[in-house]
Amino acid sequence: MPALSFELQHTDAASKARAGKITTDHGEILTPIFMPVGTVGTVKAVTQQQLHDVVQAQIILGNTYHLYLRPGLEVLEAAGGLHQFNGWHKPILTDSGGYQVFSLAAQRKIKEEGVTFRSHIDGSKLLFTPERVMDIQRSIGADIIMAFDECPPYPSEYKYAMDSMHLTHRWLDRCIGRLADTQPKYGYDQNLFPIVQGGTYKDLRKASAEFISSKNAVGNAIGGLSVGEPPEMMYEYCAWSCEHLPWQKPRYLMGVGTPWDLLECISHGVDMFDCVMPTRNGRNAMLFTSKGVINIDNKKWEKDFSVLDEVLDNGVSNYYTKAYVRHLFKAGEILGLQLASMQNLSFYLWLIGQAREHIIAGDFDSWRRAMIPVLKTRL
Ligand code: GUN
Repeated sequence: MPALSFELQHTDAASKARAGKITTDHGEILTPIFMPVGTVGTVKAVTQQQLHDVVQAQIILGNTYHLYLRPGLEVLEAAGGLHQFNGWHKPILTDSGGYQVFSLAAQRKIKEEGVTFRSHIDGSKLLFTPERVMDIQRSIGADIIMAFDECPPYPSEYKYAMDSMHLTHRWLDRCIGRLADTQPKYGYDQNLFPIVQGGTYKDLRKASAEFISSKNAVGNAIGGLSVGEPPEMMYEYCAWSCEHLPWQKPRYLMGVGTPWDLLECISHGVDMFDCVMPTRNGRNAMLFTSKGVINIDNKKWEKDFSVLDEVLDNGVSNYYTKAYVRHLFKAGEILGLQLASMQNLSFYLWLIGQAREHIIAGDFDSWRRAMIPVLKTRL
């Protein structure tokens, strides 16, 4: 009996959307779900209590690469794992670090054995292998851990995407082997999600989805998308990847996306999402609301004393005014960043909760079509 289970509760008749429930040793996650990104063990500018009470997050992300560099495994193990260290006692997922090594680290070299690179913090030379990355994720102690993969850039030549996909597959076998030889460190189970790669080539994507499906993992991820390709292409390859992944297992689309991307990809059968967009864009004055997108820096909000978003009943969005949050940004006050981050994360969680309700009610597809233009409106 795997520690993580997935119950498919409702499926939409007019699309591939599904509502489900994931059960982990740290509790349940209702899907579809958005997972706030807490790269280095904190969702930037938001406390764990606020994540729970205001944002109503059900699961958060951490990152192997960042947590390995700081605070490091000695501290994490001494604390008893990341849940104990940061005080977030609901589910956690860690990304495997491959993606971050490719985007952040200097002088990286990809070999069969793994990836050598220099730390973006102190320049020290490091080697990540699939085995090492599994050991590190054991020490961090997330409920869901990701396979070590290579995410090829867009565009990539066919040969590069194919060789990279085969390397990711060989690395997956090594990840599985290492987990079979090691035990979780903290008394609860950890669950590996393999990652589909294959660039923007249909035959490779299909082969990759079939290969990783054959491993019979408790859940599967789709990687290598939202890396610069046009949105319509991302949707197409997301849909194609979903089609070749098992229906009964949760599907996680990595690093996506805008609110409208979420609704599109839910309609293709994605259950889980993460993205830095709500927090990063929030800190840059971009607010996502149920009526559309706001640039809170804009003078138009100077004397707008309406609340950020009256639809979100969380004590932040329906309490603080646009004029006040604009003032905080203009004055360079920390509270502005906190309120913007909470607004955006609350909105993402609200939107995905609405999607779930509409899937259950049976009108998801018409709701999605009506909602997307509203979400894209520049207020
Ligand atoms: N985050 C966004 N895309 C990816 C990907 O392709 N692989 C991994 N490991 N993380 C990601």
